[in-house]
Amino acid sequence: MRQGLLFTRHVLVRYVCSLLSYFVTTQFRCSNDLLVYPPEHTSTATSTSATATVSVSNTPTCSSEATRLHLSDPPYENYFYEDCASSSHVVVTSPLENSNLTIIGPRLLVAWPAGNSGVVAFFEPEDGKNGTLGIQLQNSTATGQTLDPVYLPTKNASSENPQVGVSGIINFNTSAILTVPILGSIRTIRDFTEGPSILITYIQGAISFSEIPGGGANLNRTWLDNVTTTYLGFVPINGSGAVSINRGVNTTLRFETGSYQFTASFDYPQLEPLSPSQVFNPSSSDLAQQDPDQATSLSFLSYTTKLLAGTWRFLTYFGRDSMLSLLLLQPVLSEGEGGAIEAVIGAFLERINRTDGSGCHEETIGDYSTYLNRNKNITSTAPQCDYKMIDTDYYLPIVLKNYFVDSATGKSRLSSFFNTTASVFEENSDLTYADLALIAAEKIMNTSAPFAADGGQTRDNLIHLKEGEIVGEWRDSTYGIGGGRIPYDVNTALVPAALHNIAALSTAGFFLEHPAWNETASQYAQVWEDKTLEFFEVTIPQSTAKSLVEQYVNESAFAGPSHTDNITSDIVFHGLALDGNNNQSIVRVLNTDDCFRLFLLNSTNQTQLSSFLDQTAGHILLPFPVGLSSPVGLFVANPAYGDDPVYAANFTNSAYHGTVVWSWQLAMTAAGLARQLGRCSSTTPPDFCAQPPLYTKLRTAYSHLWDLIDANAAQLSGEVWSWVYDSSEGFRVEPLGALPPPLGTSPTESDIRQLWSLTFLAVHREEFG
Ligand SMILES: *[C@@H]1O[C@H](CO)[C@@H](O)[C@H](O)[C@H]1NC(C)=O
Ligand SMILES: *[C@@H]1O[C@H](CO)[C@@H](O)[C@H](O)[C@H]1NC(C)=O
Ligand SMILES: *[C@@H]1O[C@H](CO)[C@@H](O)[C@H](O)[C@H]1NC(C)=O
Ligand SMILES: *[C@@H]1O[C@H](CO)[C@@H](O)[C@H](O)[C@H]1NC(C)=O
Ligand SMILES: *[C@@H]1O[C@H](CO)[C@@H](O)[C@H](O)[C@H]1NC(C)=O
Ligand SMILES: *[C@@H]1O[C@H](CO)[C@@H](O)[C@H](O)[C@H]1NC(C)=O
Ligand SMILES: *[C@@H]1O[C@H](CO)[C@@H](O)[C@H](O)[C@H]1NC(C)=O
Ligand SMILES: *[C@@H]1O[C@H](CO)[C@@H](O)[C@H](O)[C@H]1NC(C)=O
Ligand SMILES: *[C@@H]1O[C@H](CO)[C@@H](O)[C@H](O)[C@H]1NC(C)=O
Ligand SMILES: *[C@@H]1O[C@H](CO)[C@@H](O)[C@H](O)[C@H]1NC(C)=O
Ligand SMILES: *[C@@H]1O[C@H](CO)[C@@H](O)[C@H](O)[C@H]1NC(C)=O
Ligand SMILES: *[C@@H]1O[C@H](CO)[C@@H](O)[C@H](O)[C@H]1NC(C)=O
Repeated sequence: MRQGLLFTRHVLVRYVCSLLSYFVTTQFRCSNDLLVYPPEHTSTATSTSATATVSVSNTPTCSSEATRLHLSDPPYENYFYEDCASSSHVVVTSPLENSNLTIIGPRLLVAWPAGNSGVVAFFEPEDGKNGTLGIQLQNSTATGQTLDPVYLPTKNASSENPQVGVSGIINFNTSAILTVPILGSIRTIRDFTEGPSILITYIQGAISFSEIPGGGANLNRTWLDNVTTTYLGFVPINGSGAVSINRGVNTTLRFETGSYQFTASFDYPQLEPLSPSQVFNPSSSDLAQQDPDQATSLSFLSYTTKLLAGTWRFLTYFGRDSMLSLLLLQPVLSEGEGGAIEAVIGAFLERINRTDGSGCHEETIGDYSTYLNRNKNITSTAPQCDYKMIDTDYYLPIVLKNYFVDSATGKSRLSSFFNTTASVFEENSDLTYADLALIAAEKIMNTSAPFAADGGQTRDNLIHLKEGEIVGEWRDSTYGIGGGRIPYDVNTALVPAALHNIAALSTAGFFLEHPAWNETASQYAQVWEDKTLEFFEVTIPQSTAKSLVEQYVNESAFAGPSHTDNITSDIVFHGLALDGNNNQSIVRVLNTDDCFRLFLLNSTNQTQLSSFLDQTAGHILLPFPVGLSSPVGLFVANPAYGDDPVYAANFTNSAYHGTVVWSWQLAMTAAGLARQLGRCSSTTPPDFCAQPPLYTKLRTAYSHLWDLIDANAAQLSGEVWSWVYDSSEGFRVEPLGALPPPLGTSPTESDIRQLWSLTFLAVHREEFG
């Protein structure tokens, strides 16, 4: 036990029993704490009824240590806490001198994976103008930590779950008003921060404010399930003034300059975490020590039943994110029952739409799913899935083949894994994983058949976005694929790769209902592999290319050099999609989506392969705005060749899928180039291996890419980052959320940690002979 602990009598009586019972019945525990954290330096006058103000740690037995992590990304400070009982991510935002004060305001946010839940409190300076209030967390003098756990084994009669969360100390440099609190779902918080500041009256109205002894204030809100409650409390410490509650149309809290202990907690069922040692396979277990930041981040997003996409904004199941991450991280992830690989595959199968075989994109759970049900006049807390994406389905056969055919552990798990009965979605509860995998594969076979048929290679037979949807693959923002309907990545890489893997699975004994798939899927795959690239090809004569780039530099007000001297031949690339905005037949935006073909297909048409690799290498080497290269990384999109001002206007450096850098795209490009270069040491090397200028260009591009990756090591674990250009310094990294967005859209804050941005745990620079 540590010193300096003050117990109020009430707390003591209430918890001694449980402490004793733990000592008696269990061995010692994870965070090594059996602590009661009182508000620091509060006068001992805190009365007997002050229990609600005191955060109590009384964690159950954990087999591993609690993990903590602090990540600074000004104006955001991120703090993580995880033990076996709960996981919390705290984000403190405090404006910097150069922040855009319309977008960046003081904010305390706590995100929880269980139920995709959270709490946010927006603050404003009481008297001064925007920018004068700074907030920050301080370490506890009692524990030395920035965050300490909250664990109350039983809290109230309505919920059977422990009340868990975190506590810390927040400091205000001037008097402050808490103007808007939101307690419940992260999705509700996202709607408020990303939408037009939408608040739902009956959700806000359910927040209950109460004064508590010691000058503190508590907020709580019971969810729409009538069972779960979220709590947020503040208590002054170090002699700071009392918190006052101003009840009005919207109730606010007032804080004086000084420090306050905050406690954020909830009583929803928790997920079972995969600790840093459980998320990796035995031969990669030292990653937890070698790279504690990324290992802790991966562990924070990994649970026995699913991996979550990112934090804080996307702290829930996402199909594409999980599958892409698995593809890139598989060499280091834990295999077998209860391991990370089966968590990803199981989570995906569980959520398949049984009617049409579509994979689930995003799962809505917790308070927000009850809210969505309520909007449909349904009284239910049942989770929901969004099936609007068209790319997600194709990852399944690839990951199934990689694990259940190529891995010894996977093979040994085949019968029991596929014999599992689905249990997450009521509507799938009479299906096994084998049934669900079959339904998904049938969808892929059926929808790819028309294009593969004799004479079927038409634009109409390519895979389109779903009717009425403007997004459908990873560039899923309004302008992500420039209004296109037929995406490049899906048609030229994902479909043929899925088909090759269905054939391989069939050969390995899968899908016995369709014994001919070993041949039909393989034949379809070959047509899709060879005949789709040509639909997306854009060739721009050298002189036109130069004038388009100059025109772009003028239109976009890009302050850097145009580099048009680097245009020494015609420019060739593959457009982002077909059927774009303003009647563009091809969305003429240069992009990084070549990485899908590089990584997923060992294509065999040698002429096509050589020219594909040649243009890819060129884009990696050439500086933006001619190519994709910049000192801050490869831009995922370059609209310079668009030949329509709509492109420069929509693909900006503050658009989510604009002239910005995505970590996992760097990883997949690097891993894809390595796979292609690796083919040169196989027994039947492709032709490009023996074409010296091309082979050298590829090696140079690979090495250049790794130089960019290494130079941006500080950013790699983030989802996406942007830049500003300064004539003296050149490119400088800037968080995306700190830049004003394109006209008509809201600022997009990036996640500090995104599952698919942790893939450099497994992707490394390789040497080729
Ligand atoms: C001041 O901050 C608030 C809240 O962050 C914001 O809504 C408002 O637009 C800001 N005002 C100005 C003038 O930037
Ligand atoms: C808080 O403690 C951590 C170590 O636990 C330390 O790295 C950090 O600098 C401290 N922060 C402050 C504001 O003192
Ligand atoms: C929420 O706070 C109100 C006011 O203090 C209190 O009456 C109520 O019992 C609290 N709800 C829960 C579930 O603790
Ligand atoms: C919660 O309680 C309210 C009021 O009694 C009721 O209308 C609502 O249907 C309940 N919600 C759920 C999910 O049970
Ligand atoms: C209360 O909050 C709502 C939603 O943010 C806002 O539209 C309204 O202006 C606020 N009312 C007052 C009196 O501040
Ligand atoms: C599942 O697919 C069917 C057929 O496309 C569709 O009608 C249904 O709405 C989908 N289910 C959900 C929950 O979206
Ligand atoms: C839900 O019920 C209300 C009141 O009966 C009705 O006005 C509304 O149209 C219903 N909504 C849906 C989606 O059925
Ligand atoms: C599959 O599960 C059923 C019922 O749960 C069981 O009877 C059968 O033996 C299992 N088959 C395999 C191959 O594990
Ligand atoms: C496909 O499987 C069938 C048996 O189901 C077999 O006769 C045939 O030879 C296989 N085709 C290939 C190309 O392996
Ligand atoms: C771009 O042009 C500059 C200046 O001529 C040259 O140094 C550089 O090597 C060129 N880059 C590429 C990739 O061709
Ligand atoms: C492509 O070939 C490389 C090198 O032989 C190999 O490592 C990789 O697994 C192959 N990829 C596919 C999708 O077959
Ligand atoms: C700050 O952000 C607002 C809202 O996005 C934008 O309209 C404004 O131009 C930005 N101000 C500056 C100085 O960038």
